[in-house]
Amino acid sequence: MNSIVAPSVLSCDFANIQQESNMLNESEADWFHLDVMDGVFVPNISFGLPIIKAFRGCTNKTLDVHAMIANPDDYVDDFKAVGTDILTVHFEACKHLHRTINAIKATGMKAGVALNPHTPVAMLESIIHDIDLVLIMSVNPGFGGQSFIDNTYTKVTNLKKLIAKTNSNALIEIDGGVTTANAEKLSRCGADILVAGSSVFRTPSISEAITALHG
Ligand code: DX5
Ligand code: ZN
Repeated sequence: MNSIVAPSVLSCDFANIQQESNMLNESEADWFHLDVMDGVFVPNISFGLPIIKAFRGCTNKTLDVHAMIANPDDYVDDFKAVGTDILTVHFEACKHLHRTINAIKATGMKAGVALNPHTPVAMLESIIHDIDLVLIMSVNPGFGGQSFIDNTYTKVTNLKKLIAKTNSNALIEIDGGVTTANAEKLSRCGADILVAGSSVFRTPSISEAITALHG
């Protein structure tokens, strides 16, 4: 399969960030996925800049930040300053998405765009060339541990076609309800990156769970 596996630290023990990071550092995890929630764009509050900075101090792996926040433009430089490598903003949160993407890339970070389950991939046709990554939400954003939405396979297939048709280099990331039961099919449809929270952290062995997701 060879997907990039990005464990979501939303499900980790925040009292032990160093130990949790060590476990991920020693595992086959490729990236750390960090879910920032503001209680406005999504009905939950998770963590913000100081926690990203703490993880930056604990790993050299890629920090993949998923900003589930209103007005992400206001914080682009702050995300860069705490060590973010990839910043993904929501299509539904950006009035001027092209401007936001350019602002992210100007800092040197990679730019991603996330789509809620109700947003069709065709909405990205005019901007797919400018983005490094598309994150398809396979649950409604806001909480870990939800069930995978089956329509995601169709969206991944459609996005793969759009990327091929436009010769874009964007990677496809899937976030929400990812387990070993759907990882292989997602990968076959065209997914490049699999985010997994509860299926990694709520298991006896984090590293075995990550290895299993690699396929
Ligand atoms: C949901 C988050 C996800 C979440 C995934 O809003 O974006 O990254 O942590 O968690 P699981 O794998 O438990 O669905
Ligand atoms: Zn996420």
